[in-house]
Amino acid sequence: MTQPLGTFVILGASGDLTYRLLMPAIYRLYAHGHWSWNVVGYAPDAWDTAAFRAHIKEGVHAFVPEFQESVWTSFQDLITFSSGELEPEGCRRLQRKVGDSPAVFYLALPPTLFGTAAVALGEAGLANPAAQRRLVVEKPFGHDEASASALRETLHRYWQESQIYRIDHFLGKETAQNLLVFRLTNRFLASIWDREHIRSVQITYAETLGLEGRWQYYEKAGALRDMLQNHLMQLLTLVAMDPPAVWTADTLHNHKTEVLRAVRPIPPDLVKGQASRGQYVAGVVEGQAVPGYRQEPHVAPDSCTETFAALKLWIDSWRWHGVPFYLRSGKRLSHDYAEVAIELKEVPRGLFGAGLNNWLIFRMKPDERIDMVVWAKEPGLTLTPRRRILSTPYRREDEIEYSAYEQLLLAVLQGDRTPFPRYDEVEEAWRIVDPVLRAWENGDPEEYAAGSDGPPGQATLMEPRMSWRRIGETDEATQQEDV
Ligand code: BG6
Repeated sequence: MTQPLGTFVILGASGDLTYRLLMPAIYRLYAHGHWSWNVVGYAPDAWDTAAFRAHIKEGVHAFVPEFQESVWTSFQDLITFSSGELEPEGCRRLQRKVGDSPAVFYLALPPTLFGTAAVALGEAGLANPAAQRRLVVEKPFGHDEASASALRETLHRYWQESQIYRIDHFLGKETAQNLLVFRLTNRFLASIWDREHIRSVQITYAETLGLEGRWQYYEKAGALRDMLQNHLMQLLTLVAMDPPAVWTADTLHNHKTEVLRAVRPIPPDLVKGQASRGQYVAGVVEGQAVPGYRQEPHVAPDSCTETFAALKLWIDSWRWHGVPFYLRSGKRLSHDYAEVAIELKEVPRGLFGAGLNNWLIFRMKPDERIDMVVWAKEPGLTLTPRRRILSTPYRREDEIEYSAYEQLLLAVLQGDRTPFPRYDEVEEAWRIVDPVLRAWENGDPEEYAAGSDGPPGQATLMEPRMSWRRIGETDEATQQEDV
């Protein structure tokens, strides 16, 4: 192993995120020869390095199926622990660990502590941009536009925007990255990627999981904040942005921001027509009876938190004027299923039938693949079109699968800001959803049974002669429709 290139400091090192996600991801990167930085765990716990290593080893063992003792033995030499609070005095001790080397400070902390930690590091003299110091901030970045702006102000006291890496783990997913690669390398898409040819875009992220013990966060967040404001809005930008002329982080962020700026604001009187919310009641998910949201432990019995949210957005740009973008996500739905589906318009004059639209589907779950819905002649004596699916997975069986966190951690080490939303993207996304959040402060979400496809009211968002795609509509399922 080469000399460590820098120091990766995790603040909140005794927490769940470090244990379940960060350290397993770092271990895997190391095992595949991509990680050579020192790792310093920082937390108030009275641990020493040996105790920290033992704790981390347990997590890596549990979450990395291909764990190897021999790899761990050399990997653990990179890891040390420093005990301290989120105040400048404690953080100054980190200075000794970091020295003059490049350093990343990862805030694996509750969002209420992001500002405190960033300021403490700054006051301890650890934020010097000339020394290649980077700050990684987990989600959520604020809970509305005003709080996001306040957090930005706090971070910017010591950190420049170019030093800040905001995690949106969807941008580390293969499908998100492939949206860019597929769109921007295939000539046949270049001339049809606009309002002349595309009829609608549907982005669905459906989960069978429920609350998973996250009531404290989720009760205050809800599906719109948890999934749409960040993850799905980011996917929308990747679909809708103009192709950048050069591949630099700032150019990419400019293009993404331009899309979000062009999203038509939703005034209070249009919220009902452009947004739908639901909350699951008891039902059956994958054969298992599950309680309703309000019966989940610790959830208020009259909670108004939405566990399903859908939006219809209009992008007022030359490229997209008049094309509806539908976004939806929910918990305890019928299938674990996610896709970005692009619907093309019909041919100008359908000689062999009507309603024969093509779809290009970037599927994220259950497996990652591209499906193209096309129409081909049904074998036989008539000229009858039949729906077929051209389908390909991205990955061969023998190829390594890197998780979103692995992708993003590596990007941070490399100083590559492309897969991290810049502040203006976050701000614009809040601007879009804030009026809906305000409208939803009162009243109850519509009920939907756990295990269903969400609240029936989502259908009201659809433009005439459009409908939501079925959740779980895999190529196998649609192929069966044909027979
Ligand atoms: C997280 C949300 O950001 O994304 C969770 O807080 C959600 O509620 C998760 O379940 C979905 O992402 P993934 O990658 O776990 O499917």
